[in-house]
Formats: sequence, C-alpha cells, structure tokens
Amino acid sequence: MANPTLLILAGDGIGPEVMAQVTRVIDWFGAKRDLAFDVENDLVGGAAYDAHGTPLHDDTMARALEVDAVLLGAVGGPKYDDLDFSVKPERGLLRLRKEMDLFSNLRPAQCFDALADFSSLKKDVVAGLDIMIVRELTSGVYFGEPRGIFEEGNERVGINTQRYTESEIDRVARSAFELAKRRGNKVCSMEKANVMESGILWREVVQRVHDADYPEVELSHMYADNGAMQLVRAPKQFDVILTDNLFGDILSDCAAMLTGSLGMLPSASLGAPNAEGRPKALYEPVHGSAPDIAGQGKANPIACMLSFAMALRYSFDQGDEATRLEAAVEKVLADGARTADLMGPDDGAPISTTEMGDAILAALDASL
Ligand code: IPM
Ligand code: MG
Repeated sequence: MANPTLLILAGDGIGPEVMAQVTRVIDWFGAKRDLAFDVENDLVGGAAYDAHGTPLHDDTMARALEVDAVLLGAVGGPKYDDLDFSVKPERGLLRLRKEMDLFSNLRPAQCFDALADFSSLKKDVVAGLDIMIVRELTSGVYFGEPRGIFEEGNERVGINTQRYTESEIDRVARSAFELAKRRGNKVCSMEKANVMESGILWREVVQRVHDADYPEVELSHMYADNGAMQLVRAPKQFDVILTDNLFGDILSDCAAMLTGSLGMLPSASLGAPNAEGRPKALYEPVHGSAPDIAGQGKANPIACMLSFAMALRYSFDQGDEATRLEAAVEKVLADGARTADLMGPDDGAPISTTEMGDAILAALDASL
C-alpha cells in the first residue's frame, strides 16, 4: 500500500523552527515504527507572499485538497502588517480552512502535571484539567457577507456579518456530541443568545440535534461572556465546549493559557469524511508566528508535535502511536525539560527548540 501523504506548510515566524523538530519526529515514526509518510513541503502566509505575491498559491491549495493531511506551522508577522487585506498572510490560512471545508476545529486544553505551577491560576484550579473546545471554523463573522469598509454620508463604516445557517450549526454540533461520547459525555454550548439572533438559532439547533440524536449526552448552554468568566473561575466544570468561530477564537486562547503556555496547545481542523472515511484535515499549533522570538531557537516545538499526534489519531487511525508521542512529551516535561516559555525569570537557563526536539526523540527511543 502507498504511504499516507502529508503536506507540510511551515509558514512564518517560529513556524519553520518548530516544524523542523516535528519533521524529525515524523522521520522517527518512519524509521522505528514502520509508519512512513510521503511528505511534501510548501509555502503559506508571508513566505508564500514573498515568493508568489499571494499568501497561498493555487497549486498549494490544490495539493492541500489531495493529500491525506496538512500540517501547518504559523502565519503572519509585522513585516506584512501594511499589506492589502486580501493578501495578508492570514488570508492563506483562512482560504485553506474555507476551501477544505474544515468546519470543526478541535482545540484541547490539557494541563500537564509537570506544568500546573506555570499557570497564572492557582494549581488546584488547573491541575488535571482536560477540556476540548470545538470551534466552528468556516462561517460566522469571519466569512459572512456583507463585509467591508464603505462610505456612508461623510464618514466610513466598517461592516462584518455574523451569519449561521441551520445546517452549519447542525454539523458542528454533531461533531461536538460525537467527541463528548468518547470523553466526559458533557457539552456546554456558548453563544450570545441574549443579544444576537444568530445566537438564538445556534441554541435552538444545538438543542434539537441533542434531543433527536444525542439525548444521552449532558448538554448545557451558556452566554459566551459568562463562559469566559467560568473558564478562569472553575475550568474543570467543562468537558467539551461548543462555540462559533469568533467566540471560539477568543475562548480557546483563554483556555490555552490556563495550561501554562500557549506553546503547548495543538489543534485539529476537520471536514466531512471522504470515501475512505478519512476527514479532510489540517493540524496546527494554536500559538501564532511569535515574531518577537522567531529565528532565535527559543520556540517551544511541543504544540506542533502534539498537533502531529492529533494527526496520527484523527487522520491515520494510529491512536496508540499518538499516545506514544504524547507520553514522550509528558515524560520530558516531568524530567524538567523547559523551553523559555515554560520558565520564570529565576528558573535558570532554558533549553533550545532543537534541544527540546532531542529530548522528545530520546523519550521516543526509550518507549520502544
Ligand atoms: C487562530 C488564529 C487565526 C484566527 C488567525 C491567524 C487568522 O488566531 O487560529 O486562532 O483568528 O482564526
Ligand atoms: Mg486565535
């Protein structure tokens, strides 16, 4: 059988540095676990703009639609701040999400025991935390029309539109309920039904999907502002949080930081399953391009590693190998390996991106 195919788009800022370590891990699975991938590398974001004048070349888009999974590093940076909106690095990522129809974005926030002290919250509030945010990713205010900056009388008006169809809400709700069944069996859906019609419809459709097909899952609804508050007050009350594109963007950054560092959090963006039952899929760390530390060997490659672990689990049916990689990460953290994002000012010298890669590869070897 042919090897599964992976398209790597390392992108901008710290993307290429962290991806270089993930590539070593991918090679390790090929060499040591008989799990070889056919890997292609291409450009996205500012890197693609520099080469082609567009943040995502049509050929890259076409390949993304053909491969079994896409692994993305990060996009964006101050160098591109003044570009026209239509060619900004972020547009490359948004085009991938939209054209691959990756409507379900899974953002786990898990607090590793060894890192509970790094959270800005008290240790007992976050120790053992394991929640999953399911963010709708292809609709809502990110894509709704009309949008733009228009003349109105003697001034300009900026417009974006929050728009959700019943079927868009229905399909992402199903993916949240399916996930919950394999975890803690609880879904909390978040919107602003108190001020937004799209929120009223969201709540109604989620409840309907629940009552019809998932009555055994415990469902609650919460206004998103209260959700943000509850996330920092008592995050362990949640199992799966289901929410829209914009609230999901904000709540997932908030949830990520509970775990100690944005450098730890992976994500999976999944579409509808193809004929072989494999979903269209893109995996990426939640952290951005971190231009302030790019090129210095300081970045934490763990979020990107854990994104590859999610690919093993959700695209390649290799749950045991995903667990192996996650356990290797947990081991190096327990042994005290710390990149700069995981240290206080008085904690001594951090290890580099490559040294973190070395440590994880050694832990993988030790797992055999
Ligand atoms: C994210 C990012 C993106 C988003 C940006 C880079 C377009 O913040 O994935 O959370 O807003 O969705
Ligand atoms: Mg974000």
